[in-house]
Amino acid sequence: MKVLVTGGMGYIGSHTCIALHKAGITPVIYDNLSNASVKVFDQLFTITGERFDYVIGDIGDEAMLTKVLKEHKIEAVFHFAALKAVGESTEQPVNYYQNNVAKTLTMLKVMSKLDIKKIIFSSSATVYGEPQYLPIDEKHPISSTNPYGWSKVMVEQILKDLAQSDEQWLTIALRYFNPVGAHESGLIGESPKGIPNNLMPFIAQTAVGRRDCVSVFGDDYDTPDGTGVRDYIHITDLAAGHVDAFLHHQKGAGQTGTDTGNHAYNLGTGQGYSVLEMIKAFADASQKEIPYTLAPRRSGDIACNYADASLAETNLGWRATKTIEDMAADTWRWQTTYPNGLE
Ligand code: NAD
Ligand code: WQD
Repeated sequence: MKVLVTGGMGYIGSHTCIALHKAGITPVIYDNLSNASVKVFDQLFTITGERFDYVIGDIGDEAMLTKVLKEHKIEAVFHFAALKAVGESTEQPVNYYQNNVAKTLTMLKVMSKLDIKKIIFSSSATVYGEPQYLPIDEKHPISSTNPYGWSKVMVEQILKDLAQSDEQWLTIALRYFNPVGAHESGLIGESPKGIPNNLMPFIAQTAVGRRDCVSVFGDDYDTPDGTGVRDYIHITDLAAGHVDAFLHHQKGAGQTGTDTGNHAYNLGTGQGYSVLEMIKAFADASQKEIPYTLAPRRSGDIACNYADASLAETNLGWRATKTIEDMAADTWRWQTTYPNGLE
């Protein structure tokens, strides 16, 4: 079976291609390279021994998408392609809604026309907005605090409506908590352009000497050590979650084959770690001192966030298995092999 992986050269998409390949599913990568390097392709070949087909294209390009979906006889779409920087989204809301929502609509129209009615969508814990209770389960009210987050809320709503309007559709939203880590080979990983917004790449770049010091945004939160707590999930576990979700629903619960309808799952570990715990884990893995300073809270941040991921375990048989030590060690391997990313 062939599936299209939009954003497949990116951080999460590329790791998911490996997981798909392992499961005997052939990924066809579709990426406009706005935030990725084509060198990922060679790295995937080294890791898997397989040269995946890839197309440099935009999900808003109806003609190109139609051609690729038809030519490869694609049966489902794993939809990672999106812009993802929260801060940038507040400065460029139109770009974010255009890329993440409008172009997804274009893609869904093409899929409908070609009768390809299965989609696995990269959603985010950001769709829960300010947590009203912890751990967060899938019944938590949906909201957001920034255009990026709203773009995820909107696409989730569109997928829900689509599944409601046409009973042949299978739409699965996977709500990621905080993806970190890298493939154990050290050949692919996260390589943000410019100054990293997220904690783990910032720590990694500090350990390798690209940054002087980590700013710890706030030490006066109502958490055990006063710093922010998040549910960090290893990228390999996250990638496996996509395959498990797809295969579970593809196989179908009943006698009639593939499930249909709309489904949403949290992908997290259920365990929260603080900023200082992450710095310590990274210092241990790298055997480097990680200099840090205490800085004011970052605007829009919450104290604590972690998942109730039991629905994915019950329904899909999936659970995260990697530890915080694995996350730090694998990030460090990637960071030291490619200190400036693949470019
Ligand atoms: P990424 O930027 O590494 O990957 C996204 C890929 O999509 C990039 O390779 C980019 O070139 C491509 N892309 C963007 N717009 C495109 C378009 N219009 N047409 C074709 N390709 C396009 O990001 P990632 O971290 O791998 O994230 C993947 C998905 O997961 C995104 O939808 C993101 O919103 C979501 N997500 C990420 C995180 C995270 O912390 N990394 C957390 C929750 C959800
Ligand atoms: C984690 C913790 C910071 C950087 C973001 C998006 C979310 C999702 C994942 C896509 C917080 C602290 C950070 C630094 C720090 N992405 N921190 N110094 O904010 O939980 O989530 O990425 O869907 O939508 O909002 O992740 O890694 O930015 O921060 O102290 O230099 O680290 O305050 O407590 P966040 P993060």
